[in-house]
Amino acid sequence: MKSYKNIDLGQGQPDFTPPPKTFLGLDRTKVSRYGAVQGNSTLREKIASKLIKKKTLDSDNVLITNGASEALNLAVRLLTPGSEILITCPYYYYYWHLIQKSFMRAKLIKLNDYRLNISDFNEKIEGCKAVILNNPSNPTGVVESGSTVREVARICSERNVLLVYDEVYSDFIYRGRRTKLFGDNIISINSFSKTFSLCGERVGYAYSKNPGIIDKLTVLKQYTSRGTSTLAQKAALNALDSSKHYFTKILHIYKKRRDLICKGLRSLDLEFPYPEGAFYVFPRVGDGTKTQKVLKNRYGLDVIDGKIFGFPENIRISYTREESALAEAIDRLSAFINSK
Ligand SMILES: Cc1ncc(COP(=O)(O)O)c(C=O)c1O
Repeated sequence: MKSYKNIDLGQGQPDFTPPPKTFLGLDRTKVSRYGAVQGNSTLREKIASKLIKKKTLDSDNVLITNGASEALNLAVRLLTPGSEILITCPYYYYYWHLIQKSFMRAKLIKLNDYRLNISDFNEKIEGCKAVILNNPSNPTGVVESGSTVREVARICSERNVLLVYDEVYSDFIYRGRRTKLFGDNIISINSFSKTFSLCGERVGYAYSKNPGIIDKLTVLKQYTSRGTSTLAQKAALNALDSSKHYFTKILHIYKKRRDLICKGLRSLDLEFPYPEGAFYVFPRVGDGTKTQKVLKNRYGLDVIDGKIFGFPENIRISYTREESALAEAIDRLSAFINSK
């Protein structure tokens, strides 16, 4: 049997280095003191003015967290245990576990051809205290239209349901546009992990038009992690001050990778929602678990079993690798399919 060198298309993290000045001056921090629980005020101001870009929002509307993951945790903990939370299926696997571990109940809404259908949403939201919506989507890469997302926000507001809007891939959009949401019952969540290739530093943030919600999240954070690493926040601040071209160049590379992998999957007659954002593609393979195992063990190809996203017939491929690795991955997939 031919032996292959491993290609990892499983992990959902960028393969780029952070902006060049990210770690500048960090070695000169001599005295270490606790930072503000809500986060470095300059960083919060800059997030408001440079990333959120809504005139009526300022640093009071922003909370810095240990990655988007902590922001998601805090948001869910605003609810009383036992509350029902609506998530779309396929879902980012973390939501499912977060909801279970927070003693809440997950209610699933199956997507229609991988997109949210508003009349299904209207039915399913009945009885729910919160909705978590991820756009662009992990694992599908689908970007919901502005009208769908705004309708979700309108329905949540009408029913007084908390909307947790996870937009960590909001900069990774190849077609279509980012839809930002602002409302009294909306918490938007974003991160430095993906856009600035800063996964390890664990800097994320939550923002809301409603500073009252940010205050409540800050109190919860006070009694969990207390604050976010001051050093990591300094790195995030440096990254934010970096050249605009940093991400423009990266986005262009991701788009080329996306085109290459999608062309390859199409040539193998695999069905998948065309990814307009994020850095994943989610083809239907029949048996996700078996496919994942065989690809790993026989072809040295790491992908993720769709089962963990609630979709056992698919696999998730992350195209966070150079084009030559992606081309090689398509060859191996082809060999696998032809061997069946
Ligand atoms: C949809 C989604 N939300 C949140 C996160 C967590 O991001 P962070 O590294 O900022 O905690 C991820 C990471 O993969 C993600 O895919």
